[in-house]
Amino acid sequence: TGQVDLAVIPGDGIGPEVTAEALKVLEVAAPAELKFSRTQYDLGAENYLKTGEVLPPSVLAEIKGQDAILLGAVGGKPNDPNLPPGILERGLLLKLRFELDHYVNLRPSRLFPGSVAPLSDAVLGKGEIDFVVVREGTEGPYTGNGGALRVGTPAEVATEVSVNTAYGVERVVRDAFERARKRPRKKLTLVHKTNVLVHAGQVWWRLFEKVAAEYPDVTTDYCHIDAVMIFLATDPQRFDVIVTDNLFGDIVTDLAAAITGGIGLAASGNVNPDRTAPSMFEPVHGSAPDIAGQLVADPTAAILSGALLLDHLGHPEAAARIEAAVLADLEARTPGQQRRTPEVGDAIASRVAG
Ligand code: NAD
Ligand code: IPM
Ligand code: MN
Repeated sequence: TGQVDLAVIPGDGIGPEVTAEALKVLEVAAPAELKFSRTQYDLGAENYLKTGEVLPPSVLAEIKGQDAILLGAVGGKPNDPNLPPGILERGLLLKLRFELDHYVNLRPSRLFPGSVAPLSDAVLGKGEIDFVVVREGTEGPYTGNGGALRVGTPAEVATEVSVNTAYGVERVVRDAFERARKRPRKKLTLVHKTNVLVHAGQVWWRLFEKVAAEYPDVTTDYCHIDAVMIFLATDPQRFDVIVTDNLFGDIVTDLAAAITGGIGLAASGNVNPDRTAPSMFEPVHGSAPDIAGQLVADPTAAILSGALLLDHLGHPEAAARIEAAVLADLEARTPGQQRRTPEVGDAIASRVAG
């Protein structure tokens, strides 16, 4: 209730196009007593090329004081000579996730009726697909812990070391158990590669077992990441909640999106469960330079990210209204019909408005 200070970071490529639609829907879905006070931050490639800055400390400090963040996407064209590799991804997106302690990267996947799934009828016939990936968001191979020696020579050596702390692993595992406990099937699958990445694997496995003892009502399972790729294609119904590290979680959620209606539908929340800083909501997809500027991007993922934001702020009924509107919109879509980005936003917003 009351006023919500919302930071909006539209970002690059299709980011601003889909964010505009998410805001449109957010405004109509929010309960009357909820007022958004928006501050837009024009961070991203354009700002970097103009100012040489990615995320000035003063801006970061200001964002830290907001209640929530809605982000579109950041990143330029792959291998743009003007953009050092990863400068925006590391300096903006990951910086926010790390600084704001977004240790739960929540990525739900549900195959809504009406959406297009590339799975066979035999696989679809096994039942509903509805699972959520709890991706660790602050550690793993994403910390920048690594380096390169003798760069550009035949003797070059590069390392990218995965960081897995007991503190970081236990808190995300615990969060995943809590989420599993609240779902009808109460099943949690740990996904890793403990057969090869034995050091990191040990800490994940040991803490998973330890926390599991406190959740006797939750069924547990373990699956190697490579086998998860098989099961997502052949038996995705086996998954309820998945908990995994930062990089496995990144990869697994693009496939999860692809089998449940496409990347245009996949929403995510970078959540700080302790609420020591604002959480950040964004589509799973990136800036899509290949279609940017054409207003053909599907804004549904951004719109559903807005629903996750409302849910996080304590308005599950408003979030459910958005989900129901998206579901109705998906059911009404005619295959092959190409709607422009604002048309999709308008259609969903008017369904929310009822
Ligand atoms: P991408 O997700 O941007 O695009 C992959 C493919 O999916 C493209 O063909 C694109 O057109 C399509 N696509 C993505 N979103 C869509 C939508 N809403 N509607 C319709 N089609 C959509 O991934 P990429 O091409 O690997 O990365 C492009 C840039 O985005 C890179 O700079 C990358 O680092 C960045 N990126 C940012 C984020 C983020 O901000 N969270 C996430 C992923 C990638
Ligand atoms: C995502 C993206 C980011 C990630 C990149 C752009 C840093 O792929 O949000 O899935 O790897 O987390
Ligand atoms: Mn990704």
